[in-house]
Amino acid sequence: MNVLVTGGCGFIGTSLIQSLIKDYGVSDICVLDNLSEGSFEDLQEVGCFVRCDANLDIPKSGLRFVEGDIRDHGLVEKCCRAVGEVVHLAANTGVAPSVENPRMDMESNVIGVLNLLEGMRANAVNKLVFASSGAPAGAVEPPIHEEIAPHPVSPYGASKLAGEGYCSAYYHSFGINTVALRFGNVFGPRSKNKSSVIAKFIRQALNGQVCEVYGDGAQTRDFIYIDDLVRAIIMALKAPLGGEVFQIASGGELSVSEAIDEVSSALAKFGFSMEVVKSSPRVGDVRRNYSDTSKAARMLGWQPEVPFALGVEKTVKYFVDRL
Ligand SMILES: NC(=O)c1ccc[n+]([C@@H]2O[C@H](COP(=O)([O-])OP(=O)(O)OC[C@H]3O[C@@H](n4cnc5c(N)ncnc54)[C@H](O)[C@@H]3O)[C@@H](O)[C@H]2O)c1
Repeated sequence: MNVLVTGGCGFIGTSLIQSLIKDYGVSDICVLDNLSEGSFEDLQEVGCFVRCDANLDIPKSGLRFVEGDIRDHGLVEKCCRAVGEVVHLAANTGVAPSVENPRMDMESNVIGVLNLLEGMRANAVNKLVFASSGAPAGAVEPPIHEEIAPHPVSPYGASKLAGEGYCSAYYHSFGINTVALRFGNVFGPRSKNKSSVIAKFIRQALNGQVCEVYGDGAQTRDFIYIDDLVRAIIMALKAPLGGEVFQIASGGELSVSEAIDEVSSALAKFGFSMEVVKSSPRVGDVRRNYSDTSKAARMLGWQPEVPFALGVEKTVKYFVDRL
């Protein structure tokens, strides 16, 4: 494998790269990241990456880092010249920023995907794993599955849906083996910059701050531990298929209040407590969200393995160790 990982300095990217290097012996990885969220130091924690000059040709082997933006089609095309497969993680990753600035969200999440697919087409790169989300499904009755008609409720959901659409189109029009994975709410070590529920609450509790729940806490989410997600990405990368979408989540429905209880008891094991307040619900958030992951089990042979409580404890330990 010689993989381009866009957004490779982020939470999922660094976890994926750590596993590619340690568990699969992959030594040729190129990371393209604009460092808006992740940092080069975060990447260095998982491998000895060498910074490449974005104005020159990108070397075709080794652990390479290119600082740049997926909206820059020339640079994206240049990165595609140097690799054999792509995992596309770089994106605007949040619902709230997409509501504040829908154009920024579209440019990162739609133009970014198009740039990548065009770069791959020009260089005969044949495999793409695209990070999608439950958000394209939007206001639907869960469990979410791959055949449900999508009704996005946020610009983020709309842009990820458009990304899925381009992946499907480039498979059918140009034969590029694209696989879109709709991640559930991912949590785990390396999520220090994330504002998603689990990471945010642990961070706030450890800083002695009050944890703010949007709405009544009865809204449900499908939380997936990072190691399970990384395994799914690598299985999708290796699978000889394209033009497919898979739900990658725990398959279980947990309310935010239940998740908080689990975080609270994990914190207690390390001698910390948490205080919670409820505030107004956020625009664009869905009420219920969980997935049917049977297609991934059937076609990829993937199933989640890490129980929620164990994942939460490992995540709390990661944050406590960083104090
Ligand atoms: N974390 C989750 O729970 C979750 C859930 C569903 C989907 N996803 C998707 O998974 C992917 C990775 O998420 P993450 O949690 O690792 O996020 P993250 O913010 O930790 O990492 C994203 C990385 O992409 C980089 N980036 C952002 N915009 C860029 C741009 N325009 N050009 C180049 N680099 C850019 C950032 O600097 C960051 O290092 C995203 O596409 C996200 O939408 C994540």
